[in-house]
Amino acid sequence: MRGLVRETSVEPRQLVLPLFVAEGLTEPRPIGSMPGVVQHTLDTLRAAATEAAEAGLGGVMLFGIPEHKDATGSGALADDGILNVAVRAVSAEVGDDCLVMTDVCLDEFTDHGHCGVLTPDGTVDNDATLQLYAEMAVQHAEAGAHVVAPSGMMDGQVGAIRSALDASGHTDIAILAYAVKYASAFYGPFREAVSSSLQGDRKTYQQDPANVREALRELALDEAEGADIVMVKPALAYLDVIRAVREATRLPVAAYNVSGEYSMVEAAAAQGWIDRDTAAAEVLTSIRRAGADLILTYWALQQTRRTPELR
Ligand code: PBG
Repeated sequence: MRGLVRETSVEPRQLVLPLFVAEGLTEPRPIGSMPGVVQHTLDTLRAAATEAAEAGLGGVMLFGIPEHKDATGSGALADDGILNVAVRAVSAEVGDDCLVMTDVCLDEFTDHGHCGVLTPDGTVDNDATLQLYAEMAVQHAEAGAHVVAPSGMMDGQVGAIRSALDASGHTDIAILAYAVKYASAFYGPFREAVSSSLQGDRKTYQQDPANVREALRELALDEAEGADIVMVKPALAYLDVIRAVREATRLPVAAYNVSGEYSMVEAAAAQGWIDRDTAAAEVLTSIRRAGADLILTYWALQQTRRTPELR
């Protein structure tokens, strides 16, 4: 009876698995703060993407970690840079079965850890960064990505990427816009995941957790600039924001169940304080119930293996 009248479900096709790949690794490197998640080698990345495709997931989201970081994040734009190489490898392997999505951002590649390049006085240079995002997105499209996901919260990033994709003939590449992204403590474990060297915070370009009207303004801007899917991030402390965005747009809404949301449950479960599978399924169900059509989650594969009662 519960199954018959259940209002919300979490299906594999609605889930996207974030995957990390690090340049120069010979063995996968465990991420201590995210039990069960690793920085992949190119080979294990291919295998993980195959597993994701076979499980029927909607897609994989690729993050690259270069061996050397510098002030302009030049590894992001090198043809043999780790993310470009990884996109080619993964799209050749699973490109027909599962969407290949890429993080379009500089923070994994810069030595200061910010999402853009800096002006001489150390502030993030919004417009100079747009140019680099546009070039990155075109390279990802050429490497075989189906969806590019600008996550840096620069003003105008969706429009700049849409124009560059269209001008280079990639009119069919979709943009998953991190439209509503808060300056959040819940990204903590991700810093280890991408070996980030960030000092300070991102409060000059990410949103204040106290604001929801601002989220709707950011949403409207990204819609006008040509976003195909809009994302709210983080998810769990922002379920009301997901609901507000759901009601304000006709676009598909994504939510990012971020690293800290994953690690909190994993850490408590490791202590025997909560039941991991039930808690994780409850978290994902709450995000869908709030109005997200799709969810980026580190639990995507575990979720597909759960009994239907937990899904
Ligand atoms: C930026 C980016 C971040 C995350 C995804 N893309 C970090 C940040 O904005 O500080 C966080 C994802 C997570 O915590 O799981 N490239």
